[in-house]
Amino acid sequence: MTLETPPATRTCRLCGGAVSEIFDFGRQPVSNAFVKAEEADGEAFHHLAVGICSSCSMVQLSDELPREAMFHDDYPYRSSESALMRRHFEEFAGNLVRTELTGPDPFVVEIGCNDGIMLKTISDHGVRHLGVDPSRGAAETAAAKGIDVRVDFFEESVAREIRQAHGRADVIFSANTFSHISYIDSIFRGIDELLAEDGLFVFEDRYLGDIVEKNYFDQIYDEHFYLFSLHSVRAMVERFGFELVDAQRLAVHGGAVRYSVARPVARKPGTALARLFAHERDLGLTDRVKLARFGVNIRRIRHDLVALLTELKAKGFRVAGYGATSKSATVLNYCGIGMDLVECVYDSTPEKQGRLTPGSHLPVVAPERFAADYPDYVVLFAWNHAEEILAKEQAFTAQGGRWILYVPDVHVLGNGGLAAAA
Ligand code: SAH
Ligand code: TMP
Ligand code: ZN
Repeated sequence: MTLETPPATRTCRLCGGAVSEIFDFGRQPVSNAFVKAEEADGEAFHHLAVGICSSCSMVQLSDELPREAMFHDDYPYRSSESALMRRHFEEFAGNLVRTELTGPDPFVVEIGCNDGIMLKTISDHGVRHLGVDPSRGAAETAAAKGIDVRVDFFEESVAREIRQAHGRADVIFSANTFSHISYIDSIFRGIDELLAEDGLFVFEDRYLGDIVEKNYFDQIYDEHFYLFSLHSVRAMVERFGFELVDAQRLAVHGGAVRYSVARPVARKPGTALARLFAHERDLGLTDRVKLARFGVNIRRIRHDLVALLTELKAKGFRVAGYGATSKSATVLNYCGIGMDLVECVYDSTPEKQGRLTPGSHLPVVAPERFAADYPDYVVLFAWNHAEEILAKEQAFTAQGGRWILYVPDVHVLGNGGLAAAA
């Protein structure tokens, strides 16, 4: 089955400018569509390619999936599986309560709250809030923690209803979700409707600068419709009548940026912006020719990873994966890796266990079963959680097990682990 998608568009989804291609990954499954064995024949595929707009410099996918094909009742991603991310959002929410939510009856809206990883802290502080997320399973987990949630796609009409029911929001927040939403014009009209005059819209997302600098090509998959840079985000927010007032680099997910956006002149722009703009000019983040060099690295990684796994297999070693990430869908399908090279993937998410990885059909197995049957090598697909996972699985490394990483280049960690590799 092939998903009904509009023809590969070469016009920018934001500004209508010309989009030229940077890299084509070919045919890909829906990245979070973990399948039951009996349904593996009926998977939907689409075409994954990424390009840059010559007018507004927004890096974007060429094909757009229907949003319901990605986000639905059974969407399996659960943000709270990571202790690092739990701490990250607890700290952010705590700061928000102290700095922005000091008025008489503040109100926070989160777009894409998932299992409530951020709003839990807001709710614990007794601050009025509403999470909006279309993925019912994740939203119900949030609700069970006492968080107020609306199961819906945030868009203009939803924002209007929220305003009518709850009043304006002092802060609208969104993490790792804004880049997932191609129909961004409706989102900005919604934010305009909902945000208080002096309110702040804060969003954080993977950063294009880190992606190209560190060869994180697996950050490119269906859900990441936009890959943001400061240049493209400024063009985007100004297009909708807002101002970019601050940007802060974050280490999570391999490198992200937290953008603060306000109504014009409502806030004084921070000094960090100029530095980051200069960094992007050095990197050439608005230059298609420079960005296209990224493609050379992606092809090399595919070659090296397949060569390493083939060699290990030939020598009789057993190899498994760790972290059935959405990122791994791009790696496995682009590299054509199946159970012949990687026997299964260990992952802590109950919603993924017992299913097969999309397209590549590796069984997803609970980490509790890892120690009972250690393989010789493990490909770390959740490389952004390396510290946490290597700490948990010390016993594997101690008995001689080895971790394979494929970014920024294919390499095997020595028994000194991450510290020795740094
Ligand atoms: N904020 C969390 C979750 C990121 S996963 C974190 O940073 O870990 C992205 C989430 O966005 C999913 O739960 C998905 O259901 C949700 N989402 C996708 N489109 C959305 C939309 N239009 N409005 C609100 N949430 C959306
Ligand atoms: P992410 O990189 O998109 O956040 O996905 C990480 C995946 O790895 C997710 O499916 C949960 C899984 N995981 C584990 O299996 N064990 C862990 O210790 C952590 C942190 C994540
Ligand atoms: Zn554009």
